[in-house]
Amino acid sequence: MNSAIRIHQYGGPEVLTLETVTAGDPAAGEVRLRHSAIGLNFIDVYQRTGLYPLGAFPQTLGMEAAGVIEAVGPNGEGFSTGDRVAYAMDLGAYCNERTISVDKLVKLPDGIEDQTAAAMMLQGMTARYLLKSSYPGQAGDTILVMAAAGGVGTLLSQWANHLGVTVIGCVGSPEKARLAQEHGCHHTILYKDEDVAARVRDITGGAGVAAVYDSIGKATLTASLDSLRPTGTLVSFGNASGPISDFNIGLLAQKGSLYIQRPTLATYIRSRELLDQCAGDLFDAVQSGAVKVRIGQTYPLADVAQAHRDLDARKTTGATVLLP
Ligand SMILES: NC(=O)c1ccc[n+]([C@@H]2O[C@H](COP(=O)([O-])OP(=O)(O)OC[C@H]3O[C@@H](n4cnc5c(N)ncnc54)[C@H](OP(=O)(O)O)[C@@H]3O)[C@@H](O)[C@H]2O)c1
Repeated sequence: MNSAIRIHQYGGPEVLTLETVTAGDPAAGEVRLRHSAIGLNFIDVYQRTGLYPLGAFPQTLGMEAAGVIEAVGPNGEGFSTGDRVAYAMDLGAYCNERTISVDKLVKLPDGIEDQTAAAMMLQGMTARYLLKSSYPGQAGDTILVMAAAGGVGTLLSQWANHLGVTVIGCVGSPEKARLAQEHGCHHTILYKDEDVAARVRDITGGAGVAAVYDSIGKATLTASLDSLRPTGTLVSFGNASGPISDFNIGLLAQKGSLYIQRPTLATYIRSRELLDQCAGDLFDAVQSGAVKVRIGQTYPLADVAQAHRDLDARKTTGATVLLP
């Protein structure tokens, strides 16, 4: 029996419904994949609530998973039955088995377990493009990372630290501060209680940081801009507190000729070449030990509504994996 978690309308975690569906046979250029582990990501919340609109209902949520190929359709070149694979940024992951285009898949190296893969593909490839493309962090830079104890945050902070970058992490609690320090942050700021820009000026001797990687959005926009050095870069890559609207571009001039980018992972893995490069770099970073993947919590797939509640309530740390 193939179970899937589908939604028939936008809303709270209660709209996530366990249903029985047929995976079907793979069409041309597709495979049928049996999932062994599924990644939970904040984009799942945006899609559940309708902040990022989906097509017609019903929809199976979930953007990332790992598993084993069960069947290969015509022209599914390069992939065979029994291959261990993973993917990110393809809707429909909350299920036991599914069909999927081979364009989305990467083969997993022996040293990467399925749960680790499901925990890191989306968040880890995001950390990679943020650090290597959005603002390429260099030894000697100081950067500010929001939600530093979260899924993307723990990976990004470790990777930046490994590159010789000084990392300041903003977190929601003292426990999360300890975790962020164990995952690459040299300094932490409790952004619910402290003046972020003032603390950043203290830590950097008044200079400000080269880049802020901000996944919080609305609530942290001003603090992020005020933490930058002249000509610094704000990479605004998420909306956990709500989206930024009515942005006054003149602020960038007033606050020191700043740069701003609003990127998405989809752009950075849009071709087979880019996907292989991005995933390959991530596998190397994890297999070398430079970046450790922290699975903070797992849930049975059937309990995904609770996983969404916990993510929404800022209770999770590191990555979250759903087990089908
Ligand atoms: N653009 C892209 O390509 C891309 C790709 C992947 C992820 N993202 C973004 O990166 C962010 C992190 O994603 P993730 O999956 O790794 O999640 P996560 O960081 O594990 O969880 C979100 C964290 O954000 C913090 N937060 C602050 N204000 C919040 C609020 N109002 N509601 C909920 N959480 C809040 C919480 O940490 P504290 O308690 O420490 O504040 C929470 O634990 C998300 O915004 C996501 O959309 C963007």
